[in-house]
Amino acid sequence: MNLCVSTQTKKYNITIERGILSKISDLINLKRKCLIVTDDNIPTSYIDTIKNQCDNPYVYVIKHGENSKNIKYFEKILKYLVENNFTRTDCVIALGGGVVGDLAGFVAASYMRGIEFYNIPTTLLAMVDSSIGGKTAIDFNGIKNIVGAFYQPSAVIIDPNTLNSLKKRQIHAGLVEAIKMALCFDKDLFYTIYESKDLNKDLDEIIYRSLLIKRSVVEADEKENNLRKSLNFGHTIGHVIEAKYAPKYLHGEAVAMGMLYFSSKEIKDKILYLIKKYHLPSPVDLKYDDAIELLKHDKKASNDSISIIYVNEVGKYEMRKEKIEDLVKYF
Ligand code: GLY
Repeated sequence: MNLCVSTQTKKYNITIERGILSKISDLINLKRKCLIVTDDNIPTSYIDTIKNQCDNPYVYVIKHGENSKNIKYFEKILKYLVENNFTRTDCVIALGGGVVGDLAGFVAASYMRGIEFYNIPTTLLAMVDSSIGGKTAIDFNGIKNIVGAFYQPSAVIIDPNTLNSLKKRQIHAGLVEAIKMALCFDKDLFYTIYESKDLNKDLDEIIYRSLLIKRSVVEADEKENNLRKSLNFGHTIGHVIEAKYAPKYLHGEAVAMGMLYFSSKEIKDKILYLIKKYHLPSPVDLKYDDAIELLKHDKKASNDSISIIYVNEVGKYEMRKEKIEDLVKYF
């Protein structure tokens, strides 16, 4: 299945197909130097499947986890590209989850002012959200995603078979990004997830419908001037929880907790039900005073105010501009 994403800066395809990993040469020109950036949790067989299709493959393996999204790895990978004489016509391929995609994408955006970048997400979180829309970044000075660029990939290739090697915990954490989009935009998708009797069976549909939402959002607002802010639902407090308790919670787990703060009673109850159903961690009791410093550094904050996304009923959200000190009322 193919979806075309058409942003102001680039038009590209998302291909979703079980088994496509072994046929990526049909979609990408691999007759050049290709740097595959991946992590030490990705099965070697996935890396080999791609490597074997490349004429001139290079592989850079980072340590898995959010801690690797740092300036040291950014520098090391750039150095590797320079030392191996990569040119503007060569390319970078991210094979992994959100961390690999964000880091490799930022490297591709920066090297020689931008070389071609392909995203092959292998986690549910990256498949439904982070691999689409060109957000690339590293964490810096203790602040998540504070340095980065909007840099669209040249193609996104999704092979849902790669989810087979993921732990249930990773799948459920990734599902939270689909829940986030469903709560803001798509009642039917929400109830597919809410009422699912067999998540594995429903995953292909969940991925596809989430991508339809993500595509329409990034096409309308590539650089997050307005509509795209909706995708930050749950992330304002989620990022605080993720940073404060690191490395205890996966990104999606922290976002699930973060959504609770900016939801009506009806939505809160539904999220709590999903937290139980999908074995997500019990919400922490975060105090406003413990969150304030991190909230000030949030990219969504400016002049002591912050835009938050609030969900009142399934499929509808509102954007509220709040003074940071007034956020205390949500705690
Ligand atoms: N993950 C949120 C966005 O792409 O805007």
